[in-house]
Amino acid sequence: MGVSIKELLLQSTQVVGSTITVQGWVRAFRSNRFLQINDGSTLGTLQAVIDFNAFPEEELRKLTTAAAVKLSGEVVESIGSGQSIELLVKHFEVLGLAAADDVQRTVMQPKRHSLDFLREQAHFRFRTNTFGAVFRIRHSVSYAIHHYFHSHGFYYLNTPIVTGSDAEGAGEMFRVTTLDAQNPPLTEEGKVDFSQDFFGKPVNLTVSGQLEAELAALALGKVYTFGPTFRAENSNTSRHLAEFWMIEPEVAFNDLQANMDLTEDFLKYICRFVLENCQEDLQFLNDRDQQEQAQKPQHERNELSLIERIQFVVENPFKRLSYTEAIDVLKNSNHYKKKKFQYDVAWGIDLQSEHERYLVEKEFKCPVILTDYPAEIKAFYMRSNDDGKTVAAMDVLFPGIGEIVGGSQREERLEVLQQKCAAFGIPEEELWWYMDTRRIGTVPHAGFGLGLERMIMFVTGMTNIRDVIPFPRTPLNASF
Ligand code: 4AD
Ligand code: MG
Repeated sequence: MGVSIKELLLQSTQVVGSTITVQGWVRAFRSNRFLQINDGSTLGTLQAVIDFNAFPEEELRKLTTAAAVKLSGEVVESIGSGQSIELLVKHFEVLGLAAADDVQRTVMQPKRHSLDFLREQAHFRFRTNTFGAVFRIRHSVSYAIHHYFHSHGFYYLNTPIVTGSDAEGAGEMFRVTTLDAQNPPLTEEGKVDFSQDFFGKPVNLTVSGQLEAELAALALGKVYTFGPTFRAENSNTSRHLAEFWMIEPEVAFNDLQANMDLTEDFLKYICRFVLENCQEDLQFLNDRDQQEQAQKPQHERNELSLIERIQFVVENPFKRLSYTEAIDVLKNSNHYKKKKFQYDVAWGIDLQSEHERYLVEKEFKCPVILTDYPAEIKAFYMRSNDDGKTVAAMDVLFPGIGEIVGGSQREERLEVLQQKCAAFGIPEEELWWYMDTRRIGTVPHAGFGLGLERMIMFVTGMTNIRDVIPFPRTPLNASF
């Protein structure tokens, strides 16, 4: 196996004099002499120098942009600017040709491609600097998440992907069935007979692993899930996916305060991890973000650069306030008085993203944790507050993103939970396993859900959620 370009560039002049083999793809070819090779291990490329008189012309002609190559030779100090070392090629092999017309078709020329166009070129997308950086950072964030929880005594829990329960009660689920859609078996009443389906009942793809995670937390203490999550909400926005990844920690004996402290510490840890471990990719995306900002009209521009925005989150406490206080802030704002909100503001409404962004970006200019929402607009499992109107919910709102985390303290009191089920029209029998945890050694507990892609948007500066997941699934789109 050859050495990775990342390792080579890290060791830099220490490897001068050694004979090595690298494998990668040709990024550019200059002056019939200099090849830039990238192998995906890092943003950087290795410069390889080819002596044109030393190889048959027929072989040299295969060295085109995007071709896959294996190169061996000696590492020497580079005299040119822009790199400290280069490879003097003694042998090369073209492993995969890249025909010019195929390359033309996927526009492999080194010009900037529109992100929309690249989404349709899933194979080529990975080979661009931008997406290389985004997906290397996505990996690092995932690793940081596991590391954070492991070092804080949490156990990683795999909750089911196919499930009979609708945890969020929003009814935005994808049905999973092996029944014949053309000709399903019917009951006597003429309804689809799911007793004849694969699982003997209707099941769906999970919208959240929370309810199952609660069972585990009430035995293992601290657990977290990290898995694919599916929502059939028909919202074609830059912040919604039909298939996304969610991280859901659940902690026995935690109340809402402890839940907020955990969330804030966790989000700051991820930000710090990216700042410390993804410098090269982050710098590239920071420059990219600066260029994007420069295209925008002045009033839409971000005052802070991408790196400064991440540093800001690490260094500043999140603003915590109740939903009721937030409604007052919004109603007293000039923005409201000048009728600049599209949606009305009144106690009881589900905050729209324009309201959330106003609070974060205009009013407080920092991440915000909103708590104690009206019971009617939140899920049945959230703990009722003494006022009888609100629940111990919390949403974390981030600049440029809006809601990044949703969580709550859970209703641990059996009778109250039973009343909530009745009020929400949730049949208790279906949730017998959940209700039983409130009968047998129930304790206060709390947790939250972080949308991985929204976090990646924040740390990469990408503004469309489709550009931070390798293969986005959205309404009317499930290519590849
Ligand atoms: O606020 P949500 O719906 O909360 C839950 O599902 C709870 N069960 C979490 C918990 O308490 N354990 O979703 C949590 C987060 C959101 O804040 C958002 O970041 C992300 O998941 N999310 C989505 N991300 C991308 N596309 C979608 N359609 C998303 N829906 C939610
Ligand atoms: Mg939510």
